[in-house]
Amino acid sequence: MTTSTPALLTITRPDDWHLHLRDGEALDAVVPDTARQFARAIIMPNLRPPVTTTEQAVAYRGRILAALAKAGMDEDHFQPLMTLYLTDNTSAEEIVRASASGLVHAVKLYPAGATTNSAAGVTDLLGKCRPALEALQKQGMPLLVHGEVTDPTTDVFDREALFIDRVMLPLRKAFPELKVVFEHITTKEGAHYVRDAEGPVAATITPQHLLYNRNAIFTGGVRPHYYCLPILKRETHRLALVEAAVSGSPRFFLGTDSAPHARGLKEHACGCAGCYSALHAMSLYAQAFDAAGALDKLEGFASHHGPAFYGLPRNTGTLTLVRKPYTIPEELPYGATTLVPLAAGETLDWRVQA
Ligand code: NCD
Ligand code: ZN
Repeated sequence: MTTSTPALLTITRPDDWHLHLRDGEALDAVVPDTARQFARAIIMPNLRPPVTTTEQAVAYRGRILAALAKAGMDEDHFQPLMTLYLTDNTSAEEIVRASASGLVHAVKLYPAGATTNSAAGVTDLLGKCRPALEALQKQGMPLLVHGEVTDPTTDVFDREALFIDRVMLPLRKAFPELKVVFEHITTKEGAHYVRDAEGPVAATITPQHLLYNRNAIFTGGVRPHYYCLPILKRETHRLALVEAAVSGSPRFFLGTDSAPHARGLKEHACGCAGCYSALHAMSLYAQAFDAAGALDKLEGFASHHGPAFYGLPRNTGTLTLVRKPYTIPEELPYGATTLVPLAAGETLDWRVQA
């Protein structure tokens, strides 16, 4: 990393290890935002219907590249790293095909009912998914975990901590060599589990969980644009996540979980979960690391730790952030509708140099 003056920060070009790009017009609207900052991203498979086969993943990748081309960009600017959506019926053969394709880089576990488009998710991981888990472990392909129990009697704020005991520990006992990414961790328990666990375990952390606690959802009224899953937690948890992100541990890396939903579906009687952060992701992370006095740790988190865990090379290009006020737009075009970015209307201290 080279910091020529305190106002400039140049880092190896970063990657986003957890991203929702959607499909169709929505895909066209959002993919340029990510490609402007990131060289690669792990693309979530929770489309409707979900991306459950290698064939579907390869076709989706083609649509992403076509959307990129419409914005005048190609694979030299941005590479989508595809994933499959794990179901109770995912076969070992499908995992082998995925790995052999060279285009699918991970498999995502959504406990059934945990979040947006998760109805086809897993109902009983160790009961139903053993062949797929064995194949993943053998191929060295990471399992990406949405770590929340879905039992309706469990408080929504406790779902991640309970998931560790009920699912993560038995899973890692049964498959100790399986690479596991605990996606978008939101709690002290999640951060400490990943910090201290033995074996190949890592976690992604979103900008919203580094910048906000759960008050953000309720300040002066209900604020749907701060509602995502797993939900924002107490300040003690936010502080534990910041500590993990700036610790320099290679187990923690950048994953925005940027999850666009049209404005009308967020500002709704049953509003969708998800924050749109792809527009200004690196400015948001810089804000969080700067507030912690740890800008020197941003490059490891954003650009080094992820490829090391996935067994991919680091990017060769760079990205420069400039300390210059950046006011986040109130809304963005999104097909026939609009999209409200995370922290719309607020001003950040850092912007990405064009
Ligand atoms: C995601 C989405 O909208 O697809 N929403 C979210 O709040 N993060 C799903 C997910 O990652 O849980
Ligand atoms: Zn997500």
